[in-house]
Amino acid sequence: VFRIPSVVIVDLQFGDSGKGKIVDYLGDHADVVVRFQGGHNAGHTVVADGKTFKLHLLPSGVVRGKRVLIGNGVVVEPKHLLKEIAELRAQGLNVDVGVSERAHVILEKHVAADDPHGKIGTTRRGIGPAYSDKHSRHGLRIIDLLDEGALREKVGNGWESYLEAGHALSPFFADVSAELNDALDAGKVVLLEGAQGTLLDIDHGTYPFVTSSNCTAGAACTGTGISPKRVDRIIGVAKAYTTRVGSGPFPTELSDGIGEKIRERGHEFGTTTGRPRRCGWFDAVQVNYSRRVNGIDELAITKLDILDGIDPLRVCVAYDWHGKRLAAFPSSVKVLEDCKPVFEDFAGWPETDWSRVKTWESMPQQARHYVEELSRLCHVPITMVGIGPSREQTISVPQAAMLRAR
Ligand code: GDP
Ligand code: IMO
Ligand code: MG
Repeated sequence: VFRIPSVVIVDLQFGDSGKGKIVDYLGDHADVVVRFQGGHNAGHTVVADGKTFKLHLLPSGVVRGKRVLIGNGVVVEPKHLLKEIAELRAQGLNVDVGVSERAHVILEKHVAADDPHGKIGTTRRGIGPAYSDKHSRHGLRIIDLLDEGALREKVGNGWESYLEAGHALSPFFADVSAELNDALDAGKVVLLEGAQGTLLDIDHGTYPFVTSSNCTAGAACTGTGISPKRVDRIIGVAKAYTTRVGSGPFPTELSDGIGEKIRERGHEFGTTTGRPRRCGWFDAVQVNYSRRVNGIDELAITKLDILDGIDPLRVCVAYDWHGKRLAAFPSSVKVLEDCKPVFEDFAGWPETDWSRVKTWESMPQQARHYVEELSRLCHVPITMVGIGPSREQTISVPQAAMLRAR
């Protein structure tokens, strides 16, 4: 039997690495694209044919008109989902979506209870409280949106509007596990699109400054109902630098003009909340940690074009903690807050007209060198490099260059 791979795409940093763009780039070859965790706290951008699409809950494959699925591991605000479907249809997209009947529902009370003192700096979408109810077994699931008794009990006042949303969504109800396994049996190509990032993972991230789901590769199975044996390839995505929205430790954060320059050039403002993103150097300690936790086969580096004219470029290769050199990523946020990055410096490149760059060979020599060094420091081949927001601005890296680097 001919088996075409299933591919998991995960973010190796604090989110916003450009997963949407990479999923869209690979989506040409895909039949089905599925989200497996998180909710509309995500904001994934796809720029195609001169149009910009901002996806929050729908998988990025929707831009190519693919079948898109929302797995059981996702938390769904039903009214938001209806709105997002309607908006994308109004933008001319053919939306063919299935939502797992087992996914949990975000209610207004969850939004009201989200991060009341702003300690975490959440997106205030009700994500944490909805997952709390799921895990304490008080949650309402998508299938329950059609159950008047369950709605009366769990929603209380205003339950009728959820019943209405349930009826409107019912044509999209799906058995995601069955559909994905059938698709894989039939030799179809499935992309599993992660949201948030490894350092925001509830277990592996900088707890408590994290989101409330597992954003790492393992969740692609638990969040959809496919076996780990059915995952063929795992692709990590990381920016050529680092950004973070919300609170929490960030050892390579830049609070000077360079951070400002990256924020301006990179339009580093949240896709979901519009908040300015904190910016800093690439952190190879973090990305190495994320490489291991996810077991990635290959790495896509995005937004290389944003680093034009910055010289030298610094990459964190270890942490200095009170005079002690740590090579591993610490579990304690208190330790991480006191870590000073140990840098290796690389030559930058001048302002470049990236619209003329179509191949690896035509990239500035220093830019190629920087990518090769990232591959060496992260112990993984880099196969794709982003040099601009649009679909075509993705360079595929000849693997001979990667072998030389490593
Ligand atoms: P996601 O959440 O991981 O999908 O990433 P976001 O969409 O939140 O943020 C990434 C931003 O960078 C979006 O505005 C993208 O259009 C943009 N982007 C992605 N890749 C590149 C790239 O290689 N170069 C540039 N300049 N922008 C990019
Ligand atoms: P994508 O999928 C970046 C951050 C929030 C906050 C923390 C917890 O676009 O990469 P939450 O609302 O999830 O309880 O907030 O996680 N956060 C993200 N940061 N990209 C995201 O999604 C994020 N989703 C949540 O800023 O620090
Ligand atoms: Mg985002």
